[in-house]
Amino acid sequence: TKVHTSNISSIKAFAESNGTSLIPSNYHSLTEHGDIIDVADEIAASIPIIDFSLLTSDDPQIHTKAVHELAKACSEWGFFMLTNHGIPESLMEELMKKSLEFHDLPVEEKKEFGDNGEPFSPIRHGTSFHLPAESVHFWRDYLKVLTSPQFNFPHKPPGYREVAFEYSQKITWVARKLIQGISESLGLESNSIIESSGFDSGQQIMAVNLYPPCPQPYLALGLPAHSDVGFLTFLIENGIGGLQVKHEDKWINVNPIPNCLVVNIGDQLEAVSNGRYESVLHRAILNNKDTRISLVVVNGPAEDRDIGPAPELLLKEKPLFKSIKYRDYFLLQQKSRLSDERALDKIRY
Ligand code: SIN
Ligand code: FE2
Repeated sequence: TKVHTSNISSIKAFAESNGTSLIPSNYHSLTEHGDIIDVADEIAASIPIIDFSLLTSDDPQIHTKAVHELAKACSEWGFFMLTNHGIPESLMEELMKKSLEFHDLPVEEKKEFGDNGEPFSPIRHGTSFHLPAESVHFWRDYLKVLTSPQFNFPHKPPGYREVAFEYSQKITWVARKLIQGISESLGLESNSIIESSGFDSGQQIMAVNLYPPCPQPYLALGLPAHSDVGFLTFLIENGIGGLQVKHEDKWINVNPIPNCLVVNIGDQLEAVSNGRYESVLHRAILNNKDTRISLVVVNGPAEDRDIGPAPELLLKEKPLFKSIKYRDYFLLQQKSRLSDERALDKIRY
C-alpha cells in the first residue's frame, strides 16, 4: 500500500503523528543510496582540515603555509573542516539548543514566520525544499533568516535572537579572514574580493534545518543535491551526521567532528576565482533513529554589487562567467532550484 500525502506543512509534526513505518510516496526521491555510502568512508577520512589559528598567525611563514593549504583544500575538495576558529563551544551549543526549541514550538506559535515564497522576505519557516513547485518532497523543516546587512531573527524562544546575533557576527569575522586568505591564494590582494563585493555590507543567510527520524531513510532525502549561492557556507550540526558532499563523482559522508565548522565553497567563489575553486554539490541524507539539526550560514556579496571573475585574473585568461548583480544572481538561483538546474550554468559563457 502506498500512502500519498499532499500539503504537509511540517514534516516534524507529520513524523510524530505518522503511526506507520511507511513514508508518503511523494517523498520517494531515491531508489536507494546505500551503494554510494559504502564507498565513502575511507575517502571521508582524508577531508582537509584547516587550522584557522595558523591562517591568522602574525608569523608570515606560518600564514603563507596556511594559505597554501587553504588553496589546496579549495581546489581539490571545495570544502574543509575548520579548527581553532575561536567561536566558543558554549555559544554553538546554546544556538543548537535554541534551534531545537524553535522547531519544537507549537505550529500555531510559528505561523507568523510562515514562508510566503518571497526570496527576500527576512524570516521564512517552512518544510521541504521548494514546496510550491517540486513533485518530490524532502524530509526537512527549515527556518531561513536574512541576518545581514540587516539582522533579522525570530523573537522566540527567549534568547534565541541574542545567541544567533552573536554567532552571526563571529561567523562574519571568520568568513572575512578566510576570504582574505582565499584572495591571496589566487594571487590577488588580500582585500580584493572583500572590497569588490562589498562584503562588509554583504548578504548573510542563516538556515536552521531539522530532519526528523525517517522510517524509510533510504527512500527519501533531507535535501537534494545543490550548491550554495554565496562565497562560503559554514555548517554545524548536532552530531548525528547526514551531510554528503560530491567528491570525484562519489558522495562522501562528512562525519561531524565536535567543535569544527564545516566550510564549503559557494557559487560566488567559483565565479570570482574564474572556475579555479568549484562550488561543491552537497545533499542531506536521513536516518531512522535521531532528529538531526544543522545550522548553516551562507555569506555573500552585497546585493547591489556586480559580481563575476576577478578582473586581475582576466589579464591572463578568458572569463568563464558573465558578471551579474548579486541580487539578480540570488533570484536566478532561487528560481533554478525549481528545475534542477544550476544557476552558475546560466551565467557561464
Ligand atoms: C544545507 O546544505 O543547507 C544543509 C546540509 C545539511 O543539513 O547537512
Ligand atoms: Fe547547502
